[in-house]
Amino acid sequence: MISSDNFLDAMQRRHACKLFDETKRISKEKLELILEYGRLSPSSFGMEPWRFLVVQSQEMKEKLRSFCWDQPQITTCSDLVLIKTVISPLAPGSKYSRDMLSRRDLPKDRIEAYFDIYDKFATAKMAGEGIFSWSSRQCYIAAANMMTGAAAMGIDSCPIEGFEKEKIESLLNMDPTKEELALIIAFGYRVNEVTKKVRLSLDKIVEYI
Ligand SMILES: Cc1cc2nc3c(=O)[nH]c(=O)nc-3n(C[C@H](O)[C@H](O)[C@H](O)COP(=O)(O)O)c2cc1C
Repeated sequence: MISSDNFLDAMQRRHACKLFDETKRISKEKLELILEYGRLSPSSFGMEPWRFLVVQSQEMKEKLRSFCWDQPQITTCSDLVLIKTVISPLAPGSKYSRDMLSRRDLPKDRIEAYFDIYDKFATAKMAGEGIFSWSSRQCYIAAANMMTGAAAMGIDSCPIEGFEKEKIESLLNMDPTKEELALIIAFGYRVNEVTKKVRLSLDKIVEYI
């Protein structure tokens, strides 16, 4: 069991690593553990909208770097994880939503009621902020868990939003009606020591009422 002190250490250790040591690879076991932290993350209605595409091919990393503001993290990292989110499977009434909601050990009438609540919720999302906005926010929760979990194992990371989304989706032959790219995370081992962490103090960001 991780103690709160260990968790704090991991939070402090994690930083947005700009350059990775190209000679160091993450072991298969540790990479799978990072992916497991993503898998175990919470999601709205338990829809688990994330899909993890692990890029290990240097050739593919080079191609992706040109669509990621030429950021060196992309090609120097050990493993690049593209977090995609499903889109059409989250539509109201979809088979996917039914399958996901039915996994719960609930009586049939409760499940039917859940279908109804989900459909209303998803319909409102489609009419409002859109499915991508809603589902990608959940991918960020998985991303945070993966990065902090990696830090607890001494593995560095960098979340990357600086990319040309449509170009990458096209490179990967993604059908945007079915899935879209939410976020990229580079994982590996740092080259440079970390600069001081800069954060607002708690009294500036917390209110009690
Ligand atoms: C959603 C998101 C997107 C980010 N995109 C990039 C990026 O494209 N390139 C980069 O170097 N850092 C990126 N960052 C890192 C932030 O700049 C960094 O987390 C922030 O400045 C705080 O620094 P720290 O993480 O080292 O504590 C991103 C962070 C988040 C959360």
